[in-house]
Amino acid sequence: MKRPFVTLEQLNDIIKVYPTPFHIYDEKGIRENARKLKAAFAWNKGFKEYFAVKATPNPYILNILKDEGCGVDCSSLTELMLANALDYKGEDIMFSSNVTPAEEFVKARELNAVINLDDFTHIDFLEKEAGLPKTISCRYNPGGVFTTSNGIMDNPGDAKYGFTKEQLIEGFRILKQKGVENFGIHAFLASNTISNEYYPTLAGILFELAVELHNKTGADIKFINLSGGIGIPYRPEEKPNDIMVIGEGVRKAFEEILVPAGMGEVAIYTELGRYMLGPYGHLVARAVHEKHIYKEYIGLDASAVNLMRPAMYGAYHHITVMGKEDAPCNFKYDVTGALCENNDKFAIDRMLPKIDIGDLIIIHDTGAHGFSMGYNYNGKLRSAELLLKEDGSVRLIRRAETPKDYFATFDFSDYHEKL
Ligand SMILES: Cc1ncc(COP(=O)(O)O)c(C=O)c1O
Repeated sequence: MKRPFVTLEQLNDIIKVYPTPFHIYDEKGIRENARKLKAAFAWNKGFKEYFAVKATPNPYILNILKDEGCGVDCSSLTELMLANALDYKGEDIMFSSNVTPAEEFVKARELNAVINLDDFTHIDFLEKEAGLPKTISCRYNPGGVFTTSNGIMDNPGDAKYGFTKEQLIEGFRILKQKGVENFGIHAFLASNTISNEYYPTLAGILFELAVELHNKTGADIKFINLSGGIGIPYRPEEKPNDIMVIGEGVRKAFEEILVPAGMGEVAIYTELGRYMLGPYGHLVARAVHEKHIYKEYIGLDASAVNLMRPAMYGAYHHITVMGKEDAPCNFKYDVTGALCENNDKFAIDRMLPKIDIGDLIIIHDTGAHGFSMGYNYNGKLRSAELLLKEDGSVRLIRRAETPKDYFATFDFSDYHEKL
């Protein structure tokens, strides 16, 4: 049973100040979870989580994670600018991009970020555009199909990311010749894994690779970045991952592979987004419309522009009708937004308690890749983001867009004054 982290009473107070829809984040949950991750990897001296900014690019959220000792994983110029504004030091910024424009490498070098190259050709490109740093990481793509013993499967052979193994060996040799002194390896082979086996399996692959790269090129491998991919139970029947078991699984692979190879000083990095923030965000909306045609529809004041995952991937997000948490789920609804797109549905054929117009609806697990994937189709505006602080008070951490924001990019034009 999924329970919201806010009560109806709290929400009734909040909506007096901040109208729906909005995303709200739970500071207490974020902090406790970040501490658990740290504890799970405490066995590794250099462990660091670089939070994937793309998941929740909000400075107030990043500051909470910074306070818990996390760095940031940036993938674009604006994310680097955000890291800079929050005074992250160079080694606290990982730059994991792909199809990277020169200006982004220049910015990453200016901030002294750790650059994680996605492609072999980027060795020359980075050298030409921004110069090579002393420390560099390269992203690995093993190709083929990735599986774990409990059946996780993904398809790196079909993914646009990373170097082949041959390119990595050649790349490390070239980088060494060009004066790079410290090396890292990165890979992201499966997304949203609900399994304690993903990280240990990935770690095994990367640890073996690190030993091979070290033996073949003499590269001094300082860190291995397991990237993102630890999932969350979006469905109430799914079992959450146990981060302590995951940390222990990685430790076991570390002891078995890296330590005997004399590489016991290697630091483990992670670049988690969903695991760090997903469960600690709700999209709060209101039922504003009901419709009875061939199916029963409930229309919300939020739409796919506020949460794209259901429309984009058919992703499940659990729904709670506030005040009716324990009522029987004996009505079948499609819960929709107002976009002129039939995939603008937060739920299809979902069994829920009877929904009345005006009911407050919580859509769970929107803390990562939620607000940040938003867009403006149909001229819809992005919502506010709120923070439920540890003391129970609520803080606005991003205001809702207004029509002025929507029209701001016409500020060069005569139309702007009329809009
Ligand atoms: C390079 C990189 N690192 C980390 C992440 C975070 O992944 P997740 O939110 O699944 O942990 C992503 C997600 O797209 C990514 O592209």
